[in-house]
Amino acid sequence: MDLNQLEKNFNKTINNLSIKTHFLKNANGIKVGICNYGARITHFIIPQNNKEVDIVLGFNNIEDYFKEDEYYYGVTVGRFANRIAKGKLTLNDETFQLAINNGGNCLHSGKTGFHNVAWEIISASDESIELKYISPDGESGFPGELTCTVKFSLGVNNDLKIHYNANSTKDTVVNLTNHSYFNLNGDDCGILNHQVRINAKYYLPINSSGIPTGEYAEVSKTPFDFRVTKKLGLEIENQHPQIIIGKGYDHSFKLEKEANELTFAASARGDLTNIKLEVFTTEPGMQLYTGNYLGGDKGKNGIIYKERSGFCFETQHYPNSPNQPKFPSTLLKAGDLFKSTTVFKIS
Ligand code: BGC
Repeated sequence: MDLNQLEKNFNKTINNLSIKTHFLKNANGIKVGICNYGARITHFIIPQNNKEVDIVLGFNNIEDYFKEDEYYYGVTVGRFANRIAKGKLTLNDETFQLAINNGGNCLHSGKTGFHNVAWEIISASDESIELKYISPDGESGFPGELTCTVKFSLGVNNDLKIHYNANSTKDTVVNLTNHSYFNLNGDDCGILNHQVRINAKYYLPINSSGIPTGEYAEVSKTPFDFRVTKKLGLEIENQHPQIIIGKGYDHSFKLEKEANELTFAASARGDLTNIKLEVFTTEPGMQLYTGNYLGGDKGKNGIIYKERSGFCFETQHYPNSPNQPKFPSTLLKAGDLFKSTTVFKIS
């Protein structure tokens, strides 16, 4: 589909929100569509053998994104990605009740979050786009007015860098991620034969509502061992209790790193296209989610998105960190600057 037509399909005012999609382009023919509704990646188009492969799930018009909020296609998730148990947050001896939307817990900040607001476009060029959202004090129950910017930059080395910045007027918690569903085959053949590697010796087992138990469990001799490249689907039907609870993979991995530097997190290679995605991040963890709950939406090219149609590599702090003192802290003190970087590199 040509970019002019796509931009027309997105540049609309809906529910009083002014929506736009902007395409980043590099000299190698990569095009990345970024929509300000949810600061989301709508398209990630890779030229290959005289055709174009779009490696993210999504839609070719804005209306469909409004219908499909709950799957978080390509969005920036915030203020707090992933789950907070019972939506309970205690800071400076004060307890805050957060929005509840998933099995009694707060998932991805509740029904209203960064994923379904219109971000302001601060600047846009072929190389980069920067978006800004000011989340009011008390939104979804979180304390502090949080000013957040997300900058997407497409480099000549085929890397898409995502820089997140945030600051708050009160002490609060922050955890931001991108929720793109990748399918490096770009078609309806699914993801189970993708070759995947994850730089983690430990993963975080969860309880029946997706909250980490607090333990760092060794991946060794479990379906969670991706230290040596293997097919994503190899053990996805395994009877391991954690695979059963997650209905596949829906778990955080503790990435191997010393501090908060930008380090390799994971890679995947499409078996049909040979397109390789490498992920680097400053975050301590990465949630591998194999689209276990996708519910049959009709996406780009008429492809039906069902379980295992796409996978997410969600770089982030661990779920429920505010209630788990052993986990790296997600506290953002009033006036301090939150910074985080994730890179999706294609080869
Ligand atoms: C979570 C899943 C959830 C999904 C919603 C993922 O980040 O880990 O449990 O169903 O988001 O799209």
